[in-house]
Amino acid sequence: MSITRRLADTVDAALELPIAPSFTRIGHDLRSRLDGWDDAQPRGLEGRVILVTGATSGIGLAAAELLAGGGATVVLTGRDRGRVDDTAHQLAERTGNDALDPVVADMGEREAVAELADHVVDSHGRVDVVIHNAGALSAERSENSDGTEATIAAQVLGPFQLTATLLPTLRATAGSTGRPSRVLTMASGGMYAAPLSVSGLQMDQEAYDGTQQYALAKRAQVTLNEMWAERVDAAVVVFHSLHPGWADTPGVRSSLPTFARVVGPLLRSAEQGADTLTWLTADDGEPLQTSGEFWLDRRRRPIHRLPRTRRSDTPARREALWNWCVRTCGVAPAL
Ligand SMILES: NC(=O)c1ccc[n+]([C@@H]2O[C@H](COP(=O)([O-])OP(=O)(O)OC[C@H]3O[C@@H](n4cnc5c(N)ncnc54)[C@H](OP(=O)(O)O)[C@@H]3O)[C@@H](O)[C@H]2O)c1
Repeated sequence: MSITRRLADTVDAALELPIAPSFTRIGHDLRSRLDGWDDAQPRGLEGRVILVTGATSGIGLAAAELLAGGGATVVLTGRDRGRVDDTAHQLAERTGNDALDPVVADMGEREAVAELADHVVDSHGRVDVVIHNAGALSAERSENSDGTEATIAAQVLGPFQLTATLLPTLRATAGSTGRPSRVLTMASGGMYAAPLSVSGLQMDQEAYDGTQQYALAKRAQVTLNEMWAERVDAAVVVFHSLHPGWADTPGVRSSLPTFARVVGPLLRSAEQGADTLTWLTADDGEPLQTSGEFWLDRRRRPIHRLPRTRRSDTPARREALWNWCVRTCGVAPAL
């Protein structure tokens, strides 16, 4: 190992210990210099179909712009017709790429997720990358039309259903390109505080705490990412989850206004928050060589940092989570 790489490893490990410098733009800037990368500016993506959920704002919008700028066909989703259409229009103007397909889909509603999957198959016949980015931290508890808590519905069940439904198309796309397809999940460093829980996954009204509910959802996401990778051949589809650090987005400003004000100048830009996501989406090197990993700033990270969350992560609980998703989504993945 070269001295430069050893120095980069040492500084990177030191940065990971205290969360603040690691998650802010300091972590991004130092690591990009130490590891010698510039923010992703993908090129040569013509012909690839990339689905980005939650592309109307923040990190998803930044990633969609970079991917469209690289020539990809981008299916971009959000919950509001006006917002997704405006986003597609603006991205076409800014990138000169009009291969943008705006779709309305609430990721927390089973029917909408099923329609989104059908739309991708019917309109494009292929999907190279599915990016589960849509997400929010909600101060108030709400439920979807099935009675499932909304954070879990949109960030655990919706992505599970979409992956399960699109799996045959992801496989077929890999068969025609000779390159593994990808499923990427935008989690959060907030999950480090949360145990893996199935019986306590949905907080009831009395216990509800938006930050904890969000962390439980993100813990479930990174766990399911590993479970998909164990079940699907990595030569055909790779799965990765990641966290963006702390980025200045409309979502952070509205859900965590005090945090956004205090940390303000240290927050990453949305583009910096989207860098590892864009790299995992578009780079045909390292991101295709492994599966089931969790990333920050283009490096693999552990999914546990606390003994109590590690203890919660048992094989039986993992199996229970998977089975609950299959039952609740009503979709059995063709593994
Ligand atoms: N920013 C950060 O520092 C940070 C840190 C850790 C993790 N993350 C994660 O990064 C992702 C993006 O966050 P962001 O900060 O960019 O937030 P944002 O600016 O609020 O953008 C969120 C996007 O998700 C969409 N969305 C939200 N709920 C949805 C639902 N139920 N169905 C479909 N679309 C939905 C929104 O679209 P519409 O409102 O138009 O429907 C919007 O496009 C999230 O998964 C978040 O948890 C962000």
